[in-house]
Amino acid sequence: MLTLTSNTTTTRLIRSITRPLGLVPTMGALHEGHLALVRRARQENPFVVVSIFVNPTQFGPQEDLATYPRDTRRDLALLEAEGVDLAYTPGPEEVYPKGFDTWVEPGALAERLEGAVRPGHFRGVATVVAKLFNVVGPDRAYFGQKDGQQLAVIRQMVQDLNMRVEIVAVPTVRDADGLALSSRNAYLTQAQRRAAPVIYRALSKAEELWQGGVTNSEALRDSVRATLDSEPSIDGIDYVSVAEATTLAELEQVNAPAMVSTAVRLGSTRLIDNVLLG
Ligand code: PAJ
Repeated sequence: MLTLTSNTTTTRLIRSITRPLGLVPTMGALHEGHLALVRRARQENPFVVVSIFVNPTQFGPQEDLATYPRDTRRDLALLEAEGVDLAYTPGPEEVYPKGFDTWVEPGALAERLEGAVRPGHFRGVATVVAKLFNVVGPDRAYFGQKDGQQLAVIRQMVQDLNMRVEIVAVPTVRDADGLALSSRNAYLTQAQRRAAPVIYRALSKAEELWQGGVTNSEALRDSVRATLDSEPSIDGIDYVSVAEATTLAELEQVNAPAMVSTAVRLGSTRLIDNVLLG
């Protein structure tokens, strides 16, 4: 496996390779969730690029940029074992050189849910993903359903800006107890880790209600909140949403495909998860 840190070398190399090319953008600290994206990309493309870049512009000033888990050596060994062709691991000065001054500003979709709690987050995500697409030039790019709003923002960006890349969504990978894998799970205490599966239990219960014929969104939201409230280790609920799957506008009735999502706090750790209906 080749490892490159330079934009220009990466672009030059990639001009000569066999297509289709699959790209998996990550911030490293790789786990089985990331590896599911990598394996899917490996199955579907003769050339696979994985980027590892902890993108400073998507972290708020009070967020965990400084403490975000980093272990590039371990990550590269995992990618090598998956048969990845190229790891692209630029530093911040390569991605945001002095004088950098152009941004991709997503619209209303990015103001909701995560965007409301993390102002500017999706501007940072959209900008870095647009840059990764331009450096690597993928035919397909792989994103996890775990970050459902991120996926929706990227799809909207690709459509609005006529980007020639196919976005592939990969289902959320969970631990045996249902907790969605996340690099941030590493921050949980043992007691919080034992409590955290309540998030998926709450979402699954709403899904069961919907399958049983409950289409009123507020009833579904109430059910999610009630399950979360039953767990004392949940210190706060940022939102519980039942929204239309592509625009993420809140629904009154669930008829079209919908996403039920929530963000909760356990101590200082913030976890998100979602399930799809229909
Ligand atoms: P990161 O959190 O490292 O996630 C990289 C990709 O892995 C994302 O598409 C995310 O949705 C996916 N992923 C994470 N946990 C998953 C799980 N349990 N199951 C399935 N997929 C999972 O998301 C980012 O990085 C960044 O915002 C990025 C897109 C790289 C831009 O900086």
